[in-house]
This record gives sequence, C-alpha cells and structure tokens, in this order.
Amino acid sequence: MTETSKGFVPPPYPYERLNRLRPITESHDGGTVDLSVGTPFDPPPQSVLDALATSGTERSYPPSIGTADFREAAKRWMSRRFGIEVPADQIGASIGTKEFVGTLPQWLKLRDPSRDTILYPAIAYPTYEMGATLAGCRAVPIRLLPGGGVDLDSIDESDAARALALWVNSPGNPTGALEDRVAAARWGREHGVPVFSDECYVEFTWSGPGRSILEEGLEGVVAVHSLSKRSNLAGLRVGFYAGDAELVSYLQEVRKHVGLMVPGPAQAAAIAALDDDEHVEVQRERYRSRLTLLASVLSDWSGEPVAQPDGAFYLWIPVNDGWEYTERLARDGGALVSPGEFYGDDGVPFIRVAVVQPDDRVQLVADRLASRG
Ligand SMILES: Cc1ncc(COP(=O)(O)O)c(C=O)c1O
Repeated sequence: MTETSKGFVPPPYPYERLNRLRPITESHDGGTVDLSVGTPFDPPPQSVLDALATSGTERSYPPSIGTADFREAAKRWMSRRFGIEVPADQIGASIGTKEFVGTLPQWLKLRDPSRDTILYPAIAYPTYEMGATLAGCRAVPIRLLPGGGVDLDSIDESDAARALALWVNSPGNPTGALEDRVAAARWGREHGVPVFSDECYVEFTWSGPGRSILEEGLEGVVAVHSLSKRSNLAGLRVGFYAGDAELVSYLQEVRKHVGLMVPGPAQAAAIAALDDDEHVEVQRERYRSRLTLLASVLSDWSGEPVAQPDGAFYLWIPVNDGWEYTERLARDGGALVSPGEFYGDDGVPFIRVAVVQPDDRVQLVADRLASRG
C-alpha cells in the first residue's frame, strides 16, 4: 500500500475495540452476552412485518421527505404522545437517525457558511462529534450538569456566535439523564442557534412520561425520532425529524438532492408501528425489569450500589477504571459492556451496560456473576 493521503483518517469504530475481549467472553459456557452496542434484540410486532411485506411500494422511488401517510402517522404519534400538533409539512423522513445526525453539520454549514461550530454534550453518542468532523466543522463539547443535561451557562459566547447547532439528547445516551428542554429551547432562541433534540429514547423514561422539545414551540428547534428503539426496528432504518418550518424545509430539500430515501416498504411498516402503542408498553416493561435485575446483580458483584437511570436502557456506572471493569466483567460474567471513554473524555471513569439482550441471556450473566460472588 502506498501512502496516498495526509487528510482525515477514520478512527477505529469504538465497539470494534472490544473485539480483543471476545475470546474471553466466548470461552464461557453459553458464549458472549453482548451488552455493549445499544441494538435491540426483542421482536417487532407481527403487524409491522405484515405491512412491510405487503405494501406494494417496491417498484417506484419513495419520496425522500417521506410519504404523506408516513408523515401523517408521525404527526398522529406526536399528537398522542406529547399533545402537540406539528404540521405534516414540518416533518421529514430519515434513514434511521444516525445518518441524519452524521450529515446534519454539512447541510447547516452550506446553509450558513459564516458559522463553523457544532455544540454537543460532552458525554454523548459519538456521532454528534463525528458529524461535525466529517463536515470540517469544529466540534465543541458542552460539559454536563451534575444531574445530567448540558450546562448551558458554560457555553462560551464566542462558541455560541459560531454555532450552527446545539445538540441535546433526552433521555441521554449513555447517561440516561433527562434534558431541561425548556432551558435548551430558550438558550437557542436567545442566541439564534438552532437546537436539535435527539429524542430516540423518549418512549423509555422511568420517572414520568417522555417529553419533547417541540412542546416548547416549533420555532428554532428540531426534534429527531427513531423507530429503531421504540419498535425494535433498528434493522429497518426509519426515523424522522420535525419542527421549525424553515429548517425542516431546507433539510428536506438538500436531502432530496442527495437521494436520502427511506424505502417504501420500510415507510409502510413504520406507519403500522407508529400507530400502535401496545408493543411499546411491552418493550418498556422488558427494559425496566432488565435494568432492575442487572443493577442489583452488578451491585452485589462489585460491592458498589448501581443507580437506575431516569431514561433510556443503559446503566451508566461510575468505576475506577473503565477498561479494567469491562475486562473483569468479561472474565466473571462473559458479558461485553462499553468503557465510558467511547462517549467522550469525561466518560472515562464510567462504563455503560445496554440491557438489550433477551431475558434468558441477561439471567445467564446474573447466574455467572452470582456463582463468582
Ligand atoms: C442517542 C442516539 N441517537 C441516535 C441513534 C441512532 O439510531 P438509529 O440510526 O437507529 O435511528 C442512536 C443509536 O444508538 C443513539 O443512541
């Protein structure tokens, strides 16, 4: 291989860095229990799979902004869930939401070339930072308040003046914290910075109902939602963004030009999923019981109390050394979890446990750890 580029070199994908621990977890009877990536393993409803198979939408190109029926279903869901009425033309489809998060900065930079900065929570889903990097933007982490949520007062005025967007994430991955959406929306309006609120875990809150930043009005804010976690459809790749009329319309137009389209059958399946709340209730109870079980098992095993999150399906546990804890858990429990450094430098003294595996697999980890205790 010849050296061809001195430019951007993609860093190793965080979760691939866990591969060196796999021989350890594999050597357990029953194999690896993977609690690292937050990917659902529970099944989606059959009605959704039926809609996927029978929509007859395979032949033609789907509308990039989403079919009228899909956007109406998203509108109905937001009305039911948050009591807000978002006009359907202020909603656009995305291919899951990772691509939306990862590409947003380049579209915003084109829209306003005088700005170059993306603000994001200092402990967060890595794609907020990566999207900024891929667009050649500055990524500026905003430290978290002790209770979670970004410390808006700590944002430097000079960074705010250069900001294309502020990302917030509520409930947050990996911390599970709920954002002060009122304060975030107000800060964005006061500073003329669009606030993008990633709400893909909003159906999984453990202290009251999930809330959307759109409840504070649509102006200057955009909420991002995903079917991946809500309906166990991460493999289908469907999400949507909704909010400020001008921002949404701009994004709909640029995304149309680049051919970002959710396949028609996937949109049809998503309509069936969005119109059904029952399966979400079932899923919520699954996550709730796994969070309770694993928190108790890990407390007993480690000798340190493990707190429940306010939302999402992760345990975010303070530890002395994230990699050491991760390796010990691989040895004793045959489980893979994520060292907190995957989510930013401030995450180093933590680990994240995703309670995504089926109950019998989670129980297997519990049994292995209990036999060690
Ligand atoms: C905070 C957050 N945002 C967005 C995503 C992207 O999910 P998807 O692309 O499946 O919608 C994830 C996935 O784990 C996430 O944790």
